[in-house]
Amino acid sequence: MSGRRLSPNLALNQLVARRRADGESIVHLGFGEARLPPFRPLVERLVSGAERSMYGSVAGGAAVREAAAGYFTRRRIPTTADRVAVAPGSKPLLMALNMVIPGDVLLPRPCWNTYAPQAAYAGKRAFGVAIPDECGGVPEPAALRETVRAARASGHDPRIVVLTLPDNPTGTLAPPALIREVCAIAAEEDLYLISDEIYRDLLHDPAQPMLSPAEVLPERTVVTTGLSKSLAIGGWRIGVARFPGGAWGADVLDGVTSFASEVWSTLAGPMQEVAAYAFAEPVELREHLAASVRLHAAVAGAVYRCAVAAGASCRPPTGGFYVYPDFEPVRAALERRGITDSDSFQRQLLDEFGVAVLAGHHLGDDRRALRFKAATGQLYGETEEEQYLALNAEAPLRLRHITDKLTRIEESFAKLCR
Ligand SMILES: Cc1ncc(COP(=O)(O)O)c(C=O)c1O
Repeated sequence: MSGRRLSPNLALNQLVARRRADGESIVHLGFGEARLPPFRPLVERLVSGAERSMYGSVAGGAAVREAAAGYFTRRRIPTTADRVAVAPGSKPLLMALNMVIPGDVLLPRPCWNTYAPQAAYAGKRAFGVAIPDECGGVPEPAALRETVRAARASGHDPRIVVLTLPDNPTGTLAPPALIREVCAIAAEEDLYLISDEIYRDLLHDPAQPMLSPAEVLPERTVVTTGLSKSLAIGGWRIGVARFPGGAWGADVLDGVTSFASEVWSTLAGPMQEVAAYAFAEPVELREHLAASVRLHAAVAGAVYRCAVAAGASCRPPTGGFYVYPDFEPVRAALERRGITDSDSFQRQLLDEFGVAVLAGHHLGDDRRALRFKAATGQLYGETEEEQYLALNAEAPLRLRHITDKLTRIEESFAKLCR
């Protein structure tokens, strides 16, 4: 494939690590990871699972698949164990779906930076469709219909819509009415849906209504999720896909399992042990998750306020740990400093202020726009002690190690926009 490169968020993460190792002080908002220690019972499961050293079945053993089926069923997506596959991360599952489901891909613009490169590796065209004003993670319905028709008229074959619920990079959740509209178009236009719900358990207000397209178009929707974000164990690599009933779902499951058998064989046994415990959602795990969500909400909200105070417009974050401000309202001030697009914005924030963010064009957004993604989950502390303090704090925004970083962000944004 031409244009081969390291995924921009991973590349930025490595750059930040190198510059920090050279002694530079950097506030890292450039990588979507919650900096929290692994919950101890997960570590215990990992250790007790170490004896599981055989390959096992490709889609995962019965225990983990049953636990994952229960997880989906409790979320109004009735699921049996034979409709679930676990894998080393949801990223490989998304790649497998790209390989198995024919046709081109429709993506919200902006969206997570991996969807488009995966489509390209699978030989597909990816069509970006603008997101609505109110939220990200879904294409704006009228624009979706228009893009599908225009793409078909020019000889392409768009078949798959990817939704991110809640969304990375905007930190927002599409409301049920919008999901219904997108599903209606999908049914009319013969499209299939991949619903990436990896941030589902990180809604800041658990009462916020969430509708999965798997509830509306059950036969046409594959759901993916994983434990990387909710439980802050991205490096352990645990993902899961839920396939629908019906002939199409059975065919996709078969294709993904075949692909998996040639690429990763199975999810590592100790990780299956961890996942079986986590997807069963015991009470202590739910409490831990609730504490993490409180922290994500507080810190994402604080970074949002820094951006708005500097003059940016921004959708208030309601899920996950992301903020996606738009500095168009203060373009004149930024241009006086030589910031004319998202590339120069990212560079100058890092080089002049030591604040690392991911420029919007890496997420499919217009390069001329003054937008970036700030991943706020890295602000919880450098040491385990600081991270536990943050997790357990009644008022995390009053912790010195957090306020120091927030002040630096606030001052950097303010100085740039003056
Ligand atoms: C929207 C989204 N989906 C999927 C992933 C991949 O997660 P994993 O492969 O760790 O399950 C990420 C990670 O950043 C993400 O933001």
